[in-house]
Amino acid sequence: MPGSVLVTGGAGFIGSHIVEDLLRAGYRVTVFDNFSSGLRENLAAFDGEVEIVEGDILDAEALTAAARGKDALSHQAAQLEITKCLEDPIDDMRTNLVGTINVLNAARIAGVGRVVNASSACIYGQAVDPPSQEDAAPHDPNWSYGASKLAAEKYAQIFSNDYGFTVHSLRYGITYGPREWYGRVLTIFLKRLLEGKAPVVFGAGEQLRDFVFVDDVVRIHRACIESGLRGAQSFNGGTGIATSVSQLARLACEISGTDLEPVTENVQPGETSELVAGRMRLPSELGVMQLSPAKVQRVFGLTPKVTLREGVQREWEWLRENPHRWTTMSY
Ligand SMILES: NC(=O)c1ccc[n+]([C@@H]2O[C@H](COP(=O)([O-])OP(=O)(O)OC[C@H]3O[C@@H](n4cnc5c(N)ncnc54)[C@H](O)[C@@H]3O)[C@@H](O)[C@H]2O)c1
Repeated sequence: MPGSVLVTGGAGFIGSHIVEDLLRAGYRVTVFDNFSSGLRENLAAFDGEVEIVEGDILDAEALTAAARGKDALSHQAAQLEITKCLEDPIDDMRTNLVGTINVLNAARIAGVGRVVNASSACIYGQAVDPPSQEDAAPHDPNWSYGASKLAAEKYAQIFSNDYGFTVHSLRYGITYGPREWYGRVLTIFLKRLLEGKAPVVFGAGEQLRDFVFVDDVVRIHRACIESGLRGAQSFNGGTGIATSVSQLARLACEISGTDLEPVTENVQPGETSELVAGRMRLPSELGVMQLSPAKVQRVFGLTPKVTLREGVQREWEWLRENPHRWTTMSY
């Protein structure tokens, strides 16, 4: 099975885990990344094993050149900072939609038969009957980021139908683990705990989220690369378990081994926190994000392996060894 894979966004958090997994499985891997949020440090352990092409997915020619001769494309590059997509939805659309169309076109021109496309749980928007099932749940994004990811999935389907190649879109939940970027709720809790400060929960902390450890989405990703399934398909990358933000804060406190307890701050969506410097509570927040893992289990026989406790413990240990990684907040 091993062949060659081009990974866009391979220097990022999830992309670098995908690169690591593919290399371990014997694939030849090329990363295509503009290093806007990705880091060479994420690939340092694979120096000499991975080819790195510095380029932008908006540069269709360079992307197509990099795609030539590859057996599969794994498209992970994206603009995923929600505050940036609120400020500049056109830039978000350009990177996430035009960039994905460029990847699909590159696959078509270069004759690559298989594409795995990083989508997002955000395409569902507010869950109506959780856990959301890929082919049954309404697709009603709350943020333009989710709209660009949903449109990208639709283009993937159209390209697959028209040109006969296979595209699997993976709708990741809140993916966490070593090399995660700093800016989301778990990272803010862990960094505060490392600094001896209590985690701050905005409001009642009742929002439910599907937190999935990065190794579990990487296993689904490889199944997509290796499956004999053809055509356009979408899969959730989640656990089916919904955890509230306040439960997560308590778990983070326990794992840190401190006697700190979460504190609450009355910050409304769209308002800025006084306790967590510069942090705005995102507007149009979801009440529930919970992804059914049933289709992935049925099609690939995979179930999530890493519990939230074990995964947060692993991220905490990585953070303690790499505190320099979380100095600038992106979200
Ligand atoms: N992390 C999550 O919880 C999560 C959840 C849902 C979906 N996703 C999706 O998973 C993918 C990976 O996310 P991540 O968390 O690893 O983010 P990340 O920011 O760590 O990785 C994104 C990578 O893409 C690169 N990139 C961005 N714009 C580019 C461009 N124009 N050209 C080339 N490279 C570019 C960045 O430099 C970075 O290496 C994204 O498509 C994201 O939308 C992530």
